[in-house]
Amino acid sequence: DLSPIDKAKFVAAKRAAQFVEDGMRVGLGTGSTAAWLVRCLGEMVRDDGLKIRGVPTSSRTAQLARDVGIEVISLDEAKWLDITIDGADEFDGELNLIKGGGGALLQEKIVATASDQMIVIADIGKEVEHLGAFPLPIEVIPFGWQTTQALVEETLISMDVLGRSSTLRMNGDRPFHTDEGNYILDLHLNRIGNPRQLSLVVNQMPGVVENGLFIDICDTVVIGYGDGRVEVRD
Ligand code: A5P
Repeated sequence: DLSPIDKAKFVAAKRAAQFVEDGMRVGLGTGSTAAWLVRCLGEMVRDDGLKIRGVPTSSRTAQLARDVGIEVISLDEAKWLDITIDGADEFDGELNLIKGGGGALLQEKIVATASDQMIVIADIGKEVEHLGAFPLPIEVIPFGWQTTQALVEETLISMDVLGRSSTLRMNGDRPFHTDEGNYILDLHLNRIGNPRQLSLVVNQMPGVVENGLFIDICDTVVIGYGDGRVEVRD
């Protein structure tokens, strides 16, 4: 028996899996909601003979995909993807997102951008009026990260955000490392007035590799509710 939140994630994933067709190259997201999707697709491969190739957005997802019997290829082998299905930490009315709570934002953004369509699966709790209550993850190069952090915080002063503190993401008592060996700064902004501008400005800074704002990338959000209802928004 699933908790309401897991049920919401599961029904969203199950509905989104219906967008996947034979022969497709599929970007596989990262996180607990995306894990439901990977398990659903694994079932369809096993029970219905669905033929797909998957490009995972993290080492964790690659492992799970193999475990459930999905053929895994690299993005370079796929070159381009028909569809990517991934979770999100927040989505707004324009289907802009904050992602990276699971630390995989860089690969997620590369994969989603290389896809004909990106579908986000989320429980209704991820919907927000304004992005920013969830800390915005920024992937930075370890070299000089404290200087990069200071630069980022200073730049935020001129931006339309409420908060401006940031924290280095930790894994126990050591910095969290992304799959690419980078660090993550979590920006505590509370409310982002202009996500598009913030994303552009942050990505201009030396030391910053990528940020977790997904602007104009997501085409459809499949929203799950705790009672099993699903809503498709695009
Ligand atoms: C991973 O880096 C994130 O972008 C995830 O997509 C996000 O954290 C959603 O995770 P859950 O589905 O576990 O909430």
